[in-house]
Amino acid sequence: MLQIPNEEINRLANANYSNDFIDMLRKWYDPEIHKNRDTNRLIIENIRPDNVHGVMYNYIMKHINVEGRSVLEVGCGSGQNVEAWHRAGAGKITTLDIDEFPVVLTKQRCVDLGIDNVDVMQSDFLEQEFDEKFDIINCVQVIEHVGRENQVPALAKLMSLAKKGGIVFIQLPNKSCIIDAHDSGLPFAHWLPRRIGVSYAKLFGRTPPMWDPMPYGKVRKVLEANGGEILNNIDLCSSLGEFIDYRVNKRRSLKNIIFAGIVTCLYPVLRGNTNAILPNINVIVRKLI
Ligand SMILES: C[S@@+](CC[C@H](N)C(=O)[O-])C[C@H]1O[C@@H](n2cnc3c(N)ncnc32)[C@H](O)[C@@H]1O
Repeated sequence: MLQIPNEEINRLANANYSNDFIDMLRKWYDPEIHKNRDTNRLIIENIRPDNVHGVMYNYIMKHINVEGRSVLEVGCGSGQNVEAWHRAGAGKITTLDIDEFPVVLTKQRCVDLGIDNVDVMQSDFLEQEFDEKFDIINCVQVIEHVGRENQVPALAKLMSLAKKGGIVFIQLPNKSCIIDAHDSGLPFAHWLPRRIGVSYAKLFGRTPPMWDPMPYGKVRKVLEANGGEILNNIDLCSSLGEFIDYRVNKRRSLKNIIFAGIVTCLYPVLRGNTNAILPNINVIVRKLI
């Protein structure tokens, strides 16, 4: 079981993190809490298809041969994706995160699980130079954190680091979706000027919009301009039928049934580009050149 020593958490907490964040991390990592629960922490053991990682992991397992491939994981966070790549049989895994805490967590995870094919670095992805290209690159919920002016360069850099024919997975919150999925969960909060959006979220007791989601059209344009072919658009499902099955049967709720209905109606209009309205943009891109 993954155990981060308390002193290590406290040292890092004093340096960089709020108490709320540390409490949240403790919950993520407390084996007792997670023993019987279905959470992101347990991506491998107990994948929930509706969490950001589960969706990606399901897609990888179904469509991508990871065996022996080189993988770059950008913004490793808790290291759970690194674990996923290792379990999927990746060859060499390289990962980095700008913050010290995620790097410590990821290294600790690798030690605890006996994973020894991972190079974990602490650095800024935008600054880091690499002397190789990768078969697979994964960047989940990171782009919105790099600062508005750095988002396009970051997407371009992801593409530049993929080998020809390599696969790049990117997930980020979608500014084109009417709901601010990343922070407040409220409609339009991420479209308003930041100050007004913050007051709006506070009025409803929600987390204020803090980060910078990109609209799908822009993401797509940047990826294509950098030699990418988008392979998949719908929540990492490969067809409308699979999407409906996923939203209506596997993740049944009134909201999802309505949502699946809307996507089905808009599907011909959007010509399959349903990422344009989903809360998260999930793109699988193949590097063509
Ligand atoms: C929301 S977390 C996502 C973590 C992980 N990708 C996952 O799927 O669980 C965002 C992570 O990106 C990292 N990050 C933000 N900007 C970065 C940058 N410029 N270079 C490297 N890592 C960065 C943060 O420190 C944080 O760990």
